[in-house]
Amino acid sequence: MAFIRLFFILLLQHLVSPFANADSASFYPHRHHHSLQKDKTALLEFKRSIFDPNSTLSNWEEAVFVCNFTGIMCDKHHNHVIQINLTGSKLVGKISPFISNLTHLRYLILDDNHFIGTIPPELSSLQHLQTLSLMKNNLTGPIPDTFSLLTNLTFFSVRENSLTGSLPPTFFSNCTKLGNVDLSYNFFAGQIPAEIGNCQGLWTLNLYNNQFTGQLPASLTNVTLYNLDVEYNLLSGELPLYLVGRQPTLMFLHLSYNNMTSHDSNTNLYPFFAALRNCTDLEELELAGMGLGGTLPSSIGHPNLMRMELQENRIFGSIPPEIGNLSNLNVLNLTSNLLNGTIPEEIGRLSRLEQLSLSHNFFNMRIPAALAKLLHLGAIPPKLLKCTKLNKLDLSHNKLTGRIPQEIAELREIRIFINLSHNLLEGPLPIELSKLENVLAMDLSSNNLSGNIFPQISSCIAVEETPSTRPTMLDAADDLDRLKRYLSGDTTATFASSLGISSSTLDDD
Ligand SMILES: *[C@@H]1O[C@H](CO)[C@@H](O)[C@H](O)[C@H]1NC(C)=O
Ligand SMILES: *[C@@H]1O[C@H](CO)[C@@H](O)[C@H](O)[C@H]1NC(C)=O
Ligand SMILES: *[C@@H]1O[C@H](CO)[C@@H](O)[C@H](O)[C@H]1NC(C)=O
Ligand SMILES: *[C@@H]1O[C@H](CO)[C@@H](O)[C@H](O)[C@H]1NC(C)=O
Ligand SMILES: *[C@@H]1O[C@H](CO)[C@@H](O)[C@H](O)[C@H]1NC(C)=O
Ligand SMILES: *[C@@H]1O[C@H](CO)[C@@H](O)[C@H](O)[C@H]1NC(C)=O
Ligand SMILES: *[C@@H]1O[C@H](CO)[C@@H](O)[C@H](O)[C@H]1NC(C)=O
Ligand SMILES: *[C@@H]1O[C@H](CO)[C@@H](O)[C@H](O)[C@H]1NC(C)=O
Ligand SMILES: *[C@@H]1O[C@H](CO)[C@@H](O)[C@H](O)[C@H]1NC(C)=O
Ligand SMILES: *[C@@H]1O[C@H](CO)[C@@H](O)[C@H](O)[C@H]1NC(C)=O
Ligand SMILES: *[C@@H]1O[C@H](CO)[C@@H](O)[C@H](O)[C@H]1NC(C)=O
Ligand SMILES: *[C@@H]1O[C@H](CO)[C@@H](O)[C@H](O)[C@H]1NC(C)=O
Repeated sequence: MAFIRLFFILLLQHLVSPFANADSASFYPHRHHHSLQKDKTALLEFKRSIFDPNSTLSNWEEAVFVCNFTGIMCDKHHNHVIQINLTGSKLVGKISPFISNLTHLRYLILDDNHFIGTIPPELSSLQHLQTLSLMKNNLTGPIPDTFSLLTNLTFFSVRENSLTGSLPPTFFSNCTKLGNVDLSYNFFAGQIPAEIGNCQGLWTLNLYNNQFTGQLPASLTNVTLYNLDVEYNLLSGELPLYLVGRQPTLMFLHLSYNNMTSHDSNTNLYPFFAALRNCTDLEELELAGMGLGGTLPSSIGHPNLMRMELQENRIFGSIPPEIGNLSNLNVLNLTSNLLNGTIPEEIGRLSRLEQLSLSHNFFNMRIPAALAKLLHLGAIPPKLLKCTKLNKLDLSHNKLTGRIPQEIAELREIRIFINLSHNLLEGPLPIELSKLENVLAMDLSSNNLSGNIFPQISSCIAVEETPSTRPTMLDAADDLDRLKRYLSGDTTATFASSLGISSSTLDDD
């Protein structure tokens, strides 16, 4: 009881302390005072090694209570500094090794500054460190070997620096608590050490935009990941079948722009997609830019998938109708593959689809236009046009034939970018185009749209990032006038060889 009262008196004295100069720690037992003084000395040393153009650290002075320094937090009894957070403070300079004297530090967050030089190996003596976040600086050199001593580390990010070297395998020898590792946007090279499988608590691993080589380590099967992003590296080998087959919790799998292959010498996508069925929570699958060969398996159906990016591969054959089972799909990108056949009507069931890019393939429909009309099939399935969330539709550079379906007018409420250029579309431009009030940009160039009336309608592509901005016309208002006349029934209107169409600029009459 006496102890508690004493504690309150001390606390009260601390709160109302009139001593500007005195560390209130002087009221605490000697050990803690000593510790706080040591922490203050270390922080002032840290300050000495940096340039602080915005005076963020102006109250980091001998006279100020260290727990009141900007960006500093102490434990609740004010015995030790436990957190440094100087995010976005415009600090320039080196990270002083004196930081390692803050022996009770749990959080070291220096994100978004201009720290240069190497990561001091001395930091490895910070045994209580849980978060080490040095994102968005200009640090160089390797991750110190001795970081294996940071056994309590759960969060480690050095994203967006200029770090080099390979990952020391020992870094993963004591990593049982490590959950979040982000080394993206650096220049790390070499293999991803197999020891990473020791990190039983790892749930998110971001290694994108580095120069890692070799294969994804098989030991990752021993880890329960939610996110694996290794895009833009030099990783090779077959798509990691066993890894994904054992990852029931995986939500984000981003492997794009590496040097991986599909199975059976880059001819067979089936085994990998079969294994992916074990990832029942998968939301994003990105396997772009690897020249992957094979056909799309019908097991592609995956109810939670929201984003599928398979562009820039060598996938051939047709899109299986089971694509219609991907009922949560927002983004489908199959641009630049070798796909042919028809675009399945089932795509029209994807009611959440927002962006569809099927350009640069060999999609075709050789059904005569009259028959197509009878069958309610256009070269572009009319049902597709009922995907009312669609805001980007790119079917350019294919062999689509027939007319532009009148159902295109059903897109009228939608802000949309449409590219149907470089196909074999024919017939007159449907009058319904004039109803498309919110089209941001449309490219119908390089088709066979009604010879003598529209010799060529070429690109007006000027997609505006801000929805409120109106699209710009590349061509003369004169052409626009004639287009308006044509759309209102005057078929004598003729056009110059190049015309940008944007219906938002047409809707005023
Ligand atoms: C310093 O920081 C404050 C608050 O963030 C900001 O308003 C001010 O513009 C900054 N000054 C300089 C010189 O960057
Ligand atoms: C720390 O800052 C608070 C709030 O600004 C102030 O009330 C308190 O007196 C300061 N503590 C010391 C020991 O200077
Ligand atoms: C660190 O500071 C930044 C900016 O003040 C803040 O947004 C962020 O939440 C802080 N981080 C932690 C872990 O407290
Ligand atoms: C603090 O750290 C520096 C640099 O690591 C070291 O030279 C110094 O001996 C340390 N001082 C104390 C009191 O631990
Ligand atoms: C890092 O350095 C480069 C040039 O060396 C500079 O362009 C860049 O802005 C710097 N980045 C940061 C975050 O300081
Ligand atoms: C590591 O963290 C645990 C709690 O997460 C704590 O009990 C232990 O004391 C910490 N060890 C060190 C050296 O900080
Ligand atoms: C792992 O951590 C323990 C305890 O901190 C330490 O003794 C050991 O040397 C570390 N292992 C490596 C490879 O650094
Ligand atoms: C997974 O962990 C177990 C037990 O630690 C080990 O025997 C096995 O070799 C590991 N698997 C892989 C693929 O590393
Ligand atoms: C998928 O899960 C099943 C059941 O857990 C398992 O038998 C199978 O081996 C897994 N597939 C792969 C490729 O790991
Ligand atoms: C990609 O892998 C193939 C063999 O699978 C190899 O011949 C080629 O050199 C690799 N390319 C790069 C950039 O690593
Ligand atoms: C699609 O291409 C394959 C060869 O890749 C060919 O066998 C097939 O006949 C083509 N199908 C159509 C409908 O063009
Ligand atoms: C699809 O991928 C291509 C790159 O091949 C890219 O230019 C296009 O913007 C992507 N489309 C979407 C909707 O992300």
